Amino acid sequence: MSELSLFALFYVYLNQNYIIMSDNKVILNYDGNSYEYPIVDSTLGDRGIDISKLRDQTGLITLDLGYKNTGATLSDITYLDGDKGELYYRGYPIEQIAEKSNFTEVMYLLLHGELPTENQFTSFDNNIKKYNFVADEMKKILDVFPRSAHPMGVLSSLTSALTAFNPKAVNVNSKEEMDHAAELMLAKFSHLCAWTYRKTQGLPINHGDNSLSYVENFYRMAFRLPNEEFVMDPVVVNALDKLLILHADHEQNCSTSTVRMVGSAHTGLFASISAGVSALWGPLHGGANQAVIEMLEMIEADGGDVNKWVEKAKNKEDNFRLMGFGHRVYKNFDPRAKIIKKAADDILNALGIQDKALDIAMQLEKVALEDDYFVSKKLYPNVDFYSGIIYRALGIPTEMFTVMFALGRLPGWISQWKEMRLHGDPIGRPRQVYQGAGVRDYVAMTNR
Ligand code: ACO
Repeated sequence: MSELSLFALFYVYLNQNYIIMSDNKVILNYDGNSYEYPIVDSTLGDRGIDISKLRDQTGLITLDLGYKNTGATLSDITYLDGDKGELYYRGYPIEQIAEKSNFTEVMYLLLHGELPTENQFTSFDNNIKKYNFVADEMKKILDVFPRSAHPMGVLSSLTSALTAFNPKAVNVNSKEEMDHAAELMLAKFSHLCAWTYRKTQGLPINHGDNSLSYVENFYRMAFRLPNEEFVMDPVVVNALDKLLILHADHEQNCSTSTVRMVGSAHTGLFASISAGVSALWGPLHGGANQAVIEMLEMIEADGGDVNKWVEKAKNKEDNFRLMGFGHRVYKNFDPRAKIIKKAADDILNALGIQDKALDIAMQLEKVALEDDYFVSKKLYPNVDFYSGIIYRALGIPTEMFTVMFALGRLPGWISQWKEMRLHGDPIGRPRQVYQGAGVRDYVAMTNR
């Protein structure tokens, strides 16, 4: 090899940008310099490359639209394996939790990290019951919303308004203060969920009854009629309990990340949860359970030809999507959907329900599970496909579905907020790759 080509090879080597990965670090060679980034271990699942020094050292940032590859935090709460279709709360498989636990115990588990002893359970339940009412002035705020307002918008506003009535729960710093704020929130949020529903129906507002469990209390507050005795139906209570458990946490999803992001500015818990409610409202997230039923009704009104709508969903020129199918993380059956599908079958049988929209749902599920488009893209029915079906079977109005989801997700949001604050996570502040206009001088309007 000539002296010149040896020099050229050396030049290329020096100027090459490359990455070498080993078991515990990643070496980035960029612009002739070498930088090392440690790999952070996990108990289960993805390990992470710690790039916190990347920008300071190299002037580069990472770009990851939709955060598909970005770990925003270290967390101990929930683990899910999207490829295997597994979900664990604090290490416990969701199947065991759904079968053996109850929603109050799950709230404790998520918030405190361990299953409670009998004494711990009683004391937690009693603490929540202590705050089992909402300031009467809140009714005035509720009053001024039009009856047609979407319950999620009302819920988000009322949740934020709670701050004004519980100012001590805003500036919290110790674990004890956070736990106190959490118990206030758990108690009062169930009222707000019930109230938003009663508002849409023009029903008088109820307060809690401390002789009931958390789920029974909500059920009664929401659905009790003023002109007849309320009958607690155990089939409904069990179904609600299971649904709330299955929605209780799902690691760093859109609404949870929102709660953490807002809370990272040390905004109070209530305002952070209010932001989470707004994020959940979207049809690509929690709003999907409402969208599923609206889609089924639309297909029914259109004559019920399921194949036609499956074809529409596959057509790239058409922006219709099969609501309740697909998931950002689960590329195998959503484990919650498996449990909920069985619950849906049991409830439909127990209540003896015949419903055309539900027949369409079953046909849609069958067609989509066998269609190559859905199979190859791993688009399985998600939890919202079946939860909408159950809520409908229980007679809960469509617009309330996402509120039910919010009630279930509340302990997850609070636990993630508490973890973020106790870990001392810095304020969330992503960067950007700017692609707008270059620097230019202001032009007076007359010269434009
Ligand atoms: N119907 C038809 N095609 C779909 C669907 C669907 N429901 N979902 C995804 N696809 C297709 C996309 O068109 C895309 O196709 P392409 O690769 O040929 O372009 C491919 O599958 C991947 O879809 P993405 O949108 O890139 O997947 P992403 O992970 O970003 O989105 C999401 C996941 C938002 C859940 C999506 O599947 C969806 O919109 N589903 C319907 C809404 C829904 O049910 N949301 C509830 C999610 S669960 C929850 O929040 C609790």
